[in-house]
Amino acid sequence: MLRYVTTNAGKVREAREYLDDGSVAQLDFDYAEIQAPTLDPIAAHGAREAYRHADEPVLVDDAGLFVDDLDGFPGPYSSYVEETLGIERVGELARDAGGGDDAPARAAFRCVLAYCDGDPFDTSPDPVDRGDRAAAAAADDGGDADDLPVKLFEGVVRGRIVDPRGDGGFGYDPIFEHDGTTLAEMSAAEKNAISHRGRALAKFAEWYATR
Ligand code: IMP
Repeated sequence: MLRYVTTNAGKVREAREYLDDGSVAQLDFDYAEIQAPTLDPIAAHGAREAYRHADEPVLVDDAGLFVDDLDGFPGPYSSYVEETLGIERVGELARDAGGGDDAPARAAFRCVLAYCDGDPFDTSPDPVDRGDRAAAAAADDGGDADDLPVKLFEGVVRGRIVDPRGDGGFGYDPIFEHDGTTLAEMSAAEKNAISHRGRALAKFAEWYATR
């Protein structure tokens, strides 16, 4: 059984569209999020921690909104910024930094899926995080190297930041427009077909089917 590690049941519903329904279950485990400027090491660290906790194959999903005119802000801090500033304030900041209403700020949603089952992985186009950063940190502390391999799958969708529209989805969906429609105005299937998470899940599902 694959454990999808998240406190957000909506993410598991999206994952079931790509994976055999009976083969994935939610693991409601709140792993400690490290601070890093990109999503990869955060997701990899979470996958190692979740695997040690569950002792079963785990998939961790880390996502964020990266606004071009804000140099990628809020990026890996999207969750904290949603809780503190709120999505409308992020929309205002993006509009102020961008070209105003006539040229809405461009942005990307990124999702990194990190898979760990304790085994090593063959070489493939998708990166494998072999714990080099964790090993370096542990060595600095005089601790043991942490070399649990983690396989990473990334999905990206590009769009524009607009005033909030729609009441579907979650998080930043109402202010993220793709091809004229916000993610919150799309059905779950429409969002899945173009979303960062859908794209990462499609890559993961193709690889996982051969495992
Ligand atoms: P996390 O990956 O659950 O930590 O999400 C980071 C932040 O991005 C949170 O504020 C989420 O609400 C937001 N987020 C993650 N995925 C999505 C999405 O598909 N749509 C809108 N917001 C998202």
